[in-house]
Amino acid sequence: MIVAARDMLVEAKKGKYAVGQFNINNLEWTKSILLTAQELKAPVILGVSEGAGKYMTGFKTVTAMVRAMDEELGITVPVAIHLDHGTFDGCFKCIRAGFSSIMFDGSHYPIEENIEKTKVLVEAAHVNGLSIEAEVGSIGGEEDGVVGMGEVADPAECKRIADLGVDFLAAGIGNIHGVYPANWKGLDFDALQKISAAVGEMPLVLHGGTGIPADMIKKAISLGVSKINVNTECQLSFAAATRAYVEAGKDQQGKGFDPRKLLAPGAQAICDTVKEKMELFGCINKA
Ligand code: 13P
Repeated sequence: MIVAARDMLVEAKKGKYAVGQFNINNLEWTKSILLTAQELKAPVILGVSEGAGKYMTGFKTVTAMVRAMDEELGITVPVAIHLDHGTFDGCFKCIRAGFSSIMFDGSHYPIEENIEKTKVLVEAAHVNGLSIEAEVGSIGGEEDGVVGMGEVADPAECKRIADLGVDFLAAGIGNIHGVYPANWKGLDFDALQKISAAVGEMPLVLHGGTGIPADMIKKAISLGVSKINVNTECQLSFAAATRAYVEAGKDQQGKGFDPRKLLAPGAQAICDTVKEKMELFGCINKA
């Protein structure tokens, strides 16, 4: 069931668990995530970066595929189709293309400009029934061409953005997209506590979910994080399972080259990774 992401995150915040955002790249990704969410009775958010949208030939293709698949598979758990790290123009394109949720990443603009642009998009999203995520501070590393320096968010700026009526807020707290370097200092819980106190009931979003140790994830949830984004980890598990299949020569046995066979171990690996994350985030049986 395709819905905006607001209600599922308000519930998650109240229930002290987090909903997973898993980024999609193609049909296999989408199918694996939807089937796992349905099996585990978990609400889920499908993240679509602008790069992944382009790869899938455009946002309209994405919504047509996800909405049709949701119906054909008989998915009854809440599913949001969410733009990840959207530009100002990209957000409007996704509203028109039938997304149910958008993220405007104005974190690289000076705060006044981030506020001005976020305000316009809050109005546009809500008029059309979508939920909206905004960002303050930045997520380190690179997410599909979006590069961040990893600045820790200022709680006062978080409050100003939250007060615009956004539905959930991504605040940089030392988190990084991609694999964490060996010398990573960990999440800044002191900053998270201050941001949480400043924004009150607003659900907070933790980007860069790949490779964050379980104890840090749990602590972040206890301090107000209600949505956790995972992308790289599904890519890594898909690649490892596909490599194992090819290295075992299975693509050369019988009709092992058939894409439905060749991609099956990778698709199963995505299901396993999503399940593992949902267990950790505590969102199973919450739909
Ligand atoms: P990872 O690729 O580090 O899991 O981060 C995903 C993300 O935050 C998407 O916005």
